Amino acid sequence: MDKIVIQGGIPLEGEVRVSGSKNAALPIIAACILTGGWHYLENIPRLRDIETIKEITSHIGMAFEEDGHCLKVNSDNITSYVASYQLVKTMRASVLVLGPLLSRLGRARISLPGGCAIGERPIDLHLKGFHAMGVDVNLEHGYVVASTDRIRGADIFFDISTVTGTENIMMAAVRAEGITTLHNAAKEPEVVDLASFLNLMGARIEGAGTDTITITGVQELHPVRYTIIPDRIESGTILIAAAITGGNVRIKGCTAEHIGAIVEKLQDSGMDIEKQGEEIVARGHDHVRSVDITTMPFPGFATDMQAQFMALMCLADGSSIIKETVFENRFMHVSELRRMGADIDINGGQAVVKGKAHLSGAQVMATDLRASASLILAGLAAEGQTEISRVYHLDRGYQNLDLKLAGLGARIWREKY
Ligand code: EPU
Repeated sequence: MDKIVIQGGIPLEGEVRVSGSKNAALPIIAACILTGGWHYLENIPRLRDIETIKEITSHIGMAFEEDGHCLKVNSDNITSYVASYQLVKTMRASVLVLGPLLSRLGRARISLPGGCAIGERPIDLHLKGFHAMGVDVNLEHGYVVASTDRIRGADIFFDISTVTGTENIMMAAVRAEGITTLHNAAKEPEVVDLASFLNLMGARIEGAGTDTITITGVQELHPVRYTIIPDRIESGTILIAAAITGGNVRIKGCTAEHIGAIVEKLQDSGMDIEKQGEEIVARGHDHVRSVDITTMPFPGFATDMQAQFMALMCLADGSSIIKETVFENRFMHVSELRRMGADIDINGGQAVVKGKAHLSGAQVMATDLRASASLILAGLAAEGQTEISRVYHLDRGYQNLDLKLAGLGARIWREKY
């Protein structure tokens, strides 16, 4: 296994280009199930989670070819409707094949994902939505077994805004009979990207990016060429790398509108951030002001940036209150940050971070994807050496983050252990 070693204390300087969005790429690859032919997907990031969705969809019958930066996907022969426990347990987003399989074959048998490190994360709202669309949904031996003769459009009200829930239902609805309206739909840029991809394929989706999405079922879809949006969480993570080291970084190929809440909080903390077309130029300073954050669905402050922002607040000039409202157990990084000298109290879904002048390098362990990024950021600023084990979590969702940071001057490398 790999560990990441960091010698902290170097201000990051230079330019970096962000990769394509993991959470946009996953549903878009699943959406290729919807119709046969060759799809050409540009800007797909090279990540463990992408390999997992390729593996799951390969078992279903999809074929892949790499062509430079383009992933070619063929879905002429969808021969199976099963996603096994062995695969789904490694990645919850595997449930995204459910909607497209129901649309293409009228049936699906998908292992029910269990809880995960950041929370219980049920999929009851996905299943409730399918049921409303005339799908027969049962749980058998740990599997969701779903089937239907025809998917009917329906009015669906989500109790909670759910990103993959919205995406799953949207994919099931594109060829449904009649109109489906999603109320309290997720507004995340990844939902909008999926809707743009589906519309290019011939779907009729309106309102993506608002909380009401209307999908008018169509008869036919066709394969397309599409470019995935840049990863907003990677952009935000690199901004914090610049902030926490007092560095000066130009981020290329990112969409500023997707990280508005993060940019605003970083500006509140004292960072200078300027948007220049498709680029963001950011300058951090020695002095970091403490700022409170509350995680919310988009356009609020993303839960996927909470752990990284907390690393920055560990070095702020006062106390900051960090409220996690999306997932019930997303403070796994706290005990590891404490090992680096951070002063953090947790009370339910709220953490109080008392900023300190320094963090000290330590041996720490990554517990989930965004927690691993948080520890890397803390390591970049800490005095001495930090060693982060279990970085396979990082490799699930960040393409070469360590190499990108090294390109900005960080002393960071991998070792086997
Ligand atoms: N929820 C339910 N029932 C459901 C669905 C969701 O109670 O049927 C709850 C969840 O337990 C959670 C809240 O609703 O408390 C929101 O969860 P959501 O469904 O939006 O999360 P998700 O779709 O499973 C996606 C991202 C996550 C990201 C969240 C929130 C993908 C593949 N994953 O997950 O990304 O944190 O939205 O923005 O898009 C990550 O990349 O590190 C990651 C965890």
